[in-house]
This record gives sequence, structure tokens and C-alpha cells, in this order.
Amino acid sequence: MGLHAKITGTGMHVPERVVTNDDLARLMDTTDEWILQRTGIRERRHVTEGETPVDLAQAASERALEAAGRAAGDLDGIVLATLSPEADFPGTSFFLHDRLGVAEIPCFDLRAQCSGFLYALAVANGFIRSGAFRRLLVVGCEVHSTGIDLTTEGRDVAVLFGDGAGAVVVEADEEKPDGPGILEVRLHAQGRYARKLWLEAPGSGFWPVRITHELIDERRHFPRMDGRFVFKHAVTRMPEVLLETLDAASLKLEDVDLFLFHQANLRINEYVAQQLEIPAERCPSNIERYGNCSAASIPMLLDEAVRSRRLRPGQLVSMTSFGSGFSWASAVLRW
Ligand code: COA
Repeated sequence: MGLHAKITGTGMHVPERVVTNDDLARLMDTTDEWILQRTGIRERRHVTEGETPVDLAQAASERALEAAGRAAGDLDGIVLATLSPEADFPGTSFFLHDRLGVAEIPCFDLRAQCSGFLYALAVANGFIRSGAFRRLLVVGCEVHSTGIDLTTEGRDVAVLFGDGAGAVVVEADEEKPDGPGILEVRLHAQGRYARKLWLEAPGSGFWPVRITHELIDERRHFPRMDGRFVFKHAVTRMPEVLLETLDAASLKLEDVDLFLFHQANLRINEYVAQQLEIPAERCPSNIERYGNCSAASIPMLLDEAVRSRRLRPGQLVSMTSFGSGFSWASAVLRW
């Protein structure tokens, strides 16, 4: 048995400011009932002035390091997944690098939207198994609230998203039979549907400049989504990749103790669980409280499961995502 990767600590952080469905109904033509019924969301968090992605990422990372019993100086790399970076460049990971005060270790951002965390976990897994890295910080971090259209025109998207960050420390370990570790990760993408859920401006696809008053007047600096199309693909791809991953690890659905689904819409996850005949108590959610935090949703949910002792040593946990790109992924770990 060789080297493998295991998560040794988790952490999360959300802004203090709670935005309820009723708060949104004061900004746009929507209702608590509509949002709750279609999505399961009751409230989400939004940053306040002066609070930025790196603040959330730093707090989540420090908690993950503390839980792992490690200092930032023990890390030998940082991978940060986000679709809402601190600045256009450099990546948010570089600002986090500065905050954590680490030595000259490499860091980079990874862009795979709501599947970003699982893509980043797959990268960390590969890096560690290859022997190139021993201890990595993997972060998912989003500030959506400053990038969404909080008027009636943008209501289909605006009500769904929230701000937050989740982080994990991933470390190399000698593989032991039935020991903790990442067993399998499977990643997929379908660029054909890139424009079904996207934010086009500012973008280098525009000439001669990336952002103009016209683009803003046309509201093309806000995300756009074909909600029904996304829903349909999510409920097909999530079970598909979840089963593919379990199969690759020679596991069955019944073996898994906990299923952590990306928190895009409670109805999507209920539908997936129903199709696979997974009992609801094995699918925790936090979308009611935080909405969809894209790359941060899964590590936030994982941190809650660990700290509430819903996920205990020796148990099997499956994580599955679907999002813009389209991108979808699944991982199975022994805790
Ligand atoms: N409040 C009130 N009404 C709203 C609304 C809101 N926030 N957003 C949209 N509506 C209206 C629409 O304008 C439409 O009105 P119309 O019938 O007069 O045209 C009506 O509600 C139904 O819209 P529709 O988009 O068909 O609703 P839906 O049942 O598909 O639910 C979503 C919308 C967004 C909840 C659903 O499509 C969804 O969750 N899709 C997946 C989204 C997702 O997961 N995205 C992230 C992936 S990572």
C-alpha cells in the first residue's frame, strides 16, 4: 500500500449579516413562500462593507488548521476554488497566502464553479499521491452578494446565492486497510452548456475593452441562468457521477453513512435522494440557512457534519456536486 491523502481538519466561516427571504422581498418582487417552496432556502448571509472573500477564506482556513492541529507554516501548498474572486488577478489564494503569513509555498485558484471544491480536492489528492506535496490547504470561498442583481429582473438567480467559505487540510498518510482517506474522486464537464449559467462581463471576450456602460445597462455584468435546464441536468448528472465514484471504489450505496450534496436547491437534492432511495436522514443540508455558496457549500456542510459529530471516524462519506460549466463531480472518503 502506498501514500494516500486524508482530510485532517475542517473549518467554515460565514458573514454575520443574515438576509431573510422577507428582506429580499423588500428589494424585489418575490415572496418567502415562493423561495422556500422552490428552493428550500429561508435565509443566506451577505457580506457588509469592508468584508471581502479573503476575510471569509482566512477565518475558515484558520479553523481548519486548528482542527488539524497544524500551523499555517506546516502547509506546502494552497488550492482555492472560487467563481467570485477578490480581484480579477491575482487569484484569491494569493491574498490568502499573505494573510496566513506562509513561506514561499505555491498557491493557485481553481475555477470549476459549484464543483470547484471537489475539483480542488481531486487536485490535492493527485498532488499528495504523487509524493510532490505532503500537506495542502483546500479552500472554497464565495462572495456572491456583491455580484447579483438584487432587483426583480435578477430575482431568479439573486434569491439562490449566499456568501461563505469552507476549508480543509489534506495530508499525506500511509495507506492502511479501512483507514481514513480519499478513496475515489471522479470529475466531469460539458462545456457545450457553458452559457446556460454564466456571468459574461467583465470578460476578455469583449473587444476592445472588457466592460462598458452599455454592457452594464444591458445588465450583462450579472449572472444569467436557464433554471429549468440546469435543474434537469443536475438531477441526472448527480446520481450518475455518485454511482460511478462508488463503483470505482467497489462500494454500494448502502455502505455510505452520509451523503453531502452541493447545496444548489433542496428540491434537486431531494429528487436525487429519492431516485437513489437514500433516506433523508443521511443527506444533511444547510441551504435553509446559507443558500447556495457554490465552491464553499460542500466544505461548509462537511465542517458542520464533523463538528456536530454526524460524521464520525470510520464512516464513509460521499460528496457530489453539479454546477455551471456544466461541471459535476463526486468523491467518496473514509473518515
Ligand atoms: N420570486 C418570485 N417569482 C420568481 C422568482 C422569484 N425569486 N424567480 C422567478 N420567478 C417567476 C418566474 O418569473 C416565472 O414567472 P412566469 O411564470 O410568470 O414567467 C415563474 O416564477 C416560474 O419560473 P421558473 O424559472 O419556471 O421556475 P422554476 O420552477 O424552474 O424554479 C428555480 C426556478 C431557479 C428555483 C429552479 O429552476 C432551479 O432551482 N433551477 C436550478 C438552479 C440551480 O441549481 N442553479 C445553481 C446550480 S449550481
